[in-house]
Amino acid sequence: MKKILSGFFAVSLGCLSLPAFAAGDAVELPEQEWSFDGVFGTYDKASMQRGFQVYQKVCSACHSLDLIAFRNLTDLGYNEDEIKAIAAEYTVEDGPNDEGEMFERAGSASDRFPAPFPNEKAAASANGGKAPPDLSLMAKARVGGPDYLYGLLTGYEDAPADIDVGNLSYNKYFPGHLISMSPPLFGDDVEYGDGTEATVEQMATDVSHFLMWAAEPKLEARKQTGVKVMIFLIIFTLIMYAAKRKAFAKVH
Ligand code: HEC
Repeated sequence: MKKILSGFFAVSLGCLSLPAFAAGDAVELPEQEWSFDGVFGTYDKASMQRGFQVYQKVCSACHSLDLIAFRNLTDLGYNEDEIKAIAAEYTVEDGPNDEGEMFERAGSASDRFPAPFPNEKAAASANGGKAPPDLSLMAKARVGGPDYLYGLLTGYEDAPADIDVGNLSYNKYFPGHLISMSPPLFGDDVEYGDGTEATVEQMATDVSHFLMWAAEPKLEARKQTGVKVMIFLIIFTLIMYAAKRKAFAKVH
């Protein structure tokens, strides 16, 4: 039984500490400490609100966020009125109306974020031939997740002398290094409502946090369930062990 028990603990501990996959031949990512790391991880609402501000002010000029509706922003700690106000700042296309025409109106809580370009071709032609990808699932779509996003946003540097970047930019962490997104953050691109200083690193951290939530809004619930399951399994194992000892006590 001891063997089974220790095996069980070894396996369960193993599950908790699976190593992150190495990022292939890319440069090693600067690993950040995220509040959502680990089994008890949770999102930091203040950081997500700041990150949302960065997305709104900077990234949304080029990147859509197709899967997120304004009402999802309750997860960031906004109340209903605040969300209505945020949505109303946007113009969304609706219709067709009774005359068969599409029309524009102010956004409401149930609308999703409107995309900056009407279609992929328009997005590509406005960005030197490469369409900025949708950011809804980006934090889960790249190896390294939020560490990669942070790295990408802080990883711009001068290209080595032997590399001709043309009209692209050189980024340490972008696979292949030549990226058609010019550096989006310079420092003080936003004025944070909570007074936090808007350095490039701070904005990169916050927007990565926000995008991690966008890609996995149910992370906290998933982790809580995981912890409950582990506790259940441990208690269950102990009860079974006690029951076994009792049942076999007379046999020995
Ligand atoms: C001026 C337009 C523009 C702005 C502003 C912009 N991006 Fe981009 N972004 C692009 C383009 C174009 C690409 C495609 C780059 C490529 O594949 O070479 C891209 C690609 C990306 C990628 C994908 C990189 C990969 O691994 O494929 C991420 C992530 C990203 N942007 C995040 C952001 C974030 C976060 C912001 C806001 C802080 C932002 N971008 C602001 C144009 C922009």
